[in-house]
Amino acid sequence: MDKKFSLAALKGEPLYVVDFPLPEGTLFGAVLPPPVPCGELLSIDPSAALALEGVKAVFTAKDIPGENQVNDLAPDEPFLAERRILHPGHPLALVVAESEEIARRALPLIVVEALGERPVFDPREAALKGRLHAPPEVLSWGEPDKAWEDSFWKIQGRADSGDQEHLYMETQSALALPLPYGGVKVFSSTQSPGGTQKTVARILGLPMHLVTVEAFRLGGGFGGKETNANSWAALAALGARLLNRPLRLSLNRREDMAFTGKRHPYSTDYSLGLDREGRILSYRVLFHQDGGAAMDLSLSILSRTLLHATGAYRVPNGRATGLSCRTDHVPRTAFRGFGAPQAFFAIESALFQAAETMKVPLEELKERNLLREGDTLPYGKTLGKETLPASWKKAKALFRWEETEARIEEYNRSASWSRKGAALMPIHFGIAFTYTPLNQASALVNVYTDGSVSVSTGAVEMGQGVSVKISRAVAETLGIPPSRIRMESTDTSRIANSSPTAASTGADLNGEAARRAALLLKERLLAVAAELLGASPEELLFRRGLLERGGKKTTWSWERVVKEAYQKRVHLSALVHYATPAIWFDGKRERGEPFSYYVSGTALVEVTLDTLRGTFRTDRFQVVHDVGSTPAPEVDRGQIEGAFLQGLGWLTLEESRVTPQGKMITDTLTTYKVPDFSSCPGVVDVRFLEEEEGGVRGLLGSKATGEPPFLYGIAGYQALWKAINAWGRPQPFQGIAPLTNERLLNLLVQREEGKP
Ligand code: MTE
Ligand code: HPA
Ligand code: MOS
Repeated sequence: MDKKFSLAALKGEPLYVVDFPLPEGTLFGAVLPPPVPCGELLSIDPSAALALEGVKAVFTAKDIPGENQVNDLAPDEPFLAERRILHPGHPLALVVAESEEIARRALPLIVVEALGERPVFDPREAALKGRLHAPPEVLSWGEPDKAWEDSFWKIQGRADSGDQEHLYMETQSALALPLPYGGVKVFSSTQSPGGTQKTVARILGLPMHLVTVEAFRLGGGFGGKETNANSWAALAALGARLLNRPLRLSLNRREDMAFTGKRHPYSTDYSLGLDREGRILSYRVLFHQDGGAAMDLSLSILSRTLLHATGAYRVPNGRATGLSCRTDHVPRTAFRGFGAPQAFFAIESALFQAAETMKVPLEELKERNLLREGDTLPYGKTLGKETLPASWKKAKALFRWEETEARIEEYNRSASWSRKGAALMPIHFGIAFTYTPLNQASALVNVYTDGSVSVSTGAVEMGQGVSVKISRAVAETLGIPPSRIRMESTDTSRIANSSPTAASTGADLNGEAARRAALLLKERLLAVAAELLGASPEELLFRRGLLERGGKKTTWSWERVVKEAYQKRVHLSALVHYATPAIWFDGKRERGEPFSYYVSGTALVEVTLDTLRGTFRTDRFQVVHDVGSTPAPEVDRGQIEGAFLQGLGWLTLEESRVTPQGKMITDTLTTYKVPDFSSCPGVVDVRFLEEEEGGVRGLLGSKATGEPPFLYGIAGYQALWKAINAWGRPQPFQGIAPLTNERLLNLLVQREEGKP
């Protein structure tokens, strides 16, 4: 995507936090996890660790100069454990030493006394005990109970989806430098430099203007560094301030996998009522969200679940209830999709079960209920122009759905030790932070006197290509080649109060702010040029770095105009703020217009299941996806393909296991399975929907692509179920995920033996 940087990565050149050249005298940190999953902390004795040569200090909660609190919204997550050990990843102490190796060697020398308790790891058990992060959230519309009574088909069931490890390439890392005036600068692998700055300031007891956080490129975030980067940055800053030395803290892979938050598992009950023809009348759903031991972003994530409860379908009556259950797991956090995948998984499971019960093809049922223009969503939003039906129609035709079905049926009749399945999956995902105030951004564009341009925004580049999109938007606006533009790091002293780069809004928010800043600069420069040429600014424009007048090239280059502008004392920097217009949400009534637009599309996934081994291969991933008029098609293609595979991994491969004592036993890639080369579909075919939609969109008429295509993974899941169902004697559908190798084998054996 960005050739220079991927090449740098291949050559092992500095890229991520641990690649930065270290200042002289840098110390290193390591984090002490608790000896029990949760319970009372009685004492910490670091004396043996301190006696180890090279160990400089051991810091615990009592060394914190500010507030011992990670959470910004409610004080439910002490940063270092004080009296209560909240969860198996709760840090107890920071060891600082001359090397990382010494710091880690010192950890087991620290003597901890603690009273362990039996952890609650099941969200339903937590709910029964009344352990909720907040009162239940309820979104209801129409007359769900009456519509249920009136339904011809009544489907009741349960859907369970699991957690997911982010597995970004770069583990959580921070390098903190003490500053002479009592402040601190932190280089952090964070998706939210603003949030990290706030947390560091709170914990160190400093005003925010004494804390600077800077993020270069992250080796991936996927939501796992939206809030979860804060603690590690704060630990590094704490040690650096207290010892007045630079300090680097970087989790190793096992620590990262064990100590940091993952995707929320959900256990969901649904009842779906349909009329005789298969039109949905009522959908009632109860989500048990496993929030972990502290709320973190769980309540925002639950909101997005409720807002997406009906998936890509028209549901006239319904009630969605969300319980954020306080289990004793490491607090769950943001992960691509932010609660929407779990919602889609539930309604898609309900439809799958309905199709089985009604003995109609799943896709027929989906098509009958597909959202279209004029439909009203549960929260009262009436849909305008809608590209979903067009994507469905196109996908069906382009990818020859009917022929596919017939071919698979034929295959399954004659195959011996394998079965095939395919599914079509529509998606519909709202773009904007569900918490309205976060939908703002600023950008600072500097034009230097040599004509080179630097762009700073609140957006963090983490591989999703936001910097490519923003730099193209600025280049297009200014009329200069992208090579003249440098995308700067994300720094809280250049861009204040930035929202996290999340909710797929990175380019829409920050790119629009940058585009508007570029527009201001262009106007200033064209005014200067107009004066010089005795022309009106309307006749002038820059194209590829040259000034044109009335469509004809002049002898004036961009650089020359910039120099003249400086001589005339024209301001060559612009700082612009942008807030998404026309969105609002009334959380009490659960009504409003929370999103600026919707992303939709339809995927076809075909799989072949090896019925002897319980393994499968993805034969095809084909999709018609709405990207609007994208400034970076190659980036979007990558996002769609990557997100699909990540979604498929969530539902078919990835499974964390924690012992009853709270030890994460899937903390390496030998025990935690993620998609790899062998998971890549045989055929990958990504088409962009060309349809003119006319409605609201994001940057330059494009649509966000970061998260929505994650949902296509569900097509793979359904395709796999169809393949399973083509084997042996029929058994009822169970909405369980992930369908790991082990589960698949069990399901196949059950069908072979014809017993549950
Ligand atoms: N793609 C890559 N390569 N790496 C990432 O960390 N994060 C995803 C998505 N795509 C991610 C990614 C998530 S969770 C989000 S919200 C968006 O990118 C954030 O970036 P954007 O808003 O610029 O799309
Ligand atoms: N998406 C992602 N991250 C967020 C959101 C959201 O809607 N709200 C707060 N953080
Ligand atoms: Mo993405 S989960 O909104 O960082």
